[in-house]
Amino acid sequence: MSISRIALFAGLLAAAPAFAQSPGLGAKITEADVGAWAITILPDGTNLPKGSGTAAQGAKVYAEKCLACHNEGGKGGPYAALVSDAPLQGRGIEAPKTIKNFWGTATTVYDYIRRAMPWPNPRTLTDEEVYGLVAYILAENKIIEKDAVMDAKSLPQVKMPNRDNFIIKFPDKI
Ligand code: HEC
Repeated sequence: MSISRIALFAGLLAAAPAFAQSPGLGAKITEADVGAWAITILPDGTNLPKGSGTAAQGAKVYAEKCLACHNEGGKGGPYAALVSDAPLQGRGIEAPKTIKNFWGTATTVYDYIRRAMPWPNPRTLTDEEVYGLVAYILAENKIIEKDAVMDAKSLPQVKMPNRDNFIIKFPDKI
């Protein structure tokens, strides 16, 4: 569209109030609708929900809802291994990127499981179940003690093994 046509069109809009108003489609989004999608947990744990869970609790949920795809003890097959000591170094781009050797923050494991798993029925786990699953996966990877309780306070304090090897491009943003 040429500049003059845009100017003409804008002029028409201004001249005809009925045009200038919104077409009246759609409905105002409610807080509840926004809340269902506003589930991002920041690396520092901001937005982690209430509740808590242990590896023992998570193990039960895992057996029921995750094992079929991630195998006994999270060793992987047919889909990604969730528990693995595979090294990141030495195999270049082929190196398996696991929760233990690659994920920089434990809070992201929570965010990911809650929003994406169990495939293909994400968002069906309770917040407590997710805490348990995260505790189970971290404990099996020997990142936390077997009896550690994961909640909004303890989870952000978990130190992931590879946390210092990330280059944070915009440190002010997190
Ligand atoms: C029907 C199969 C299926 C089920 C059931 C399932 N997952 Fe997954 N999961 C996948 C697939 C597919 C991926 C992503 C592709 C891949 O990496 O293999 C994935 C990836 C993941 C990852 C990311 C792994 C990584 O290092 O990138 C986590 C964590 C995870 N799943 C946790 C769970 C948990 C916890 C449950 C149970 C509540 C679960 N999954 C149930 C199929 C499944």
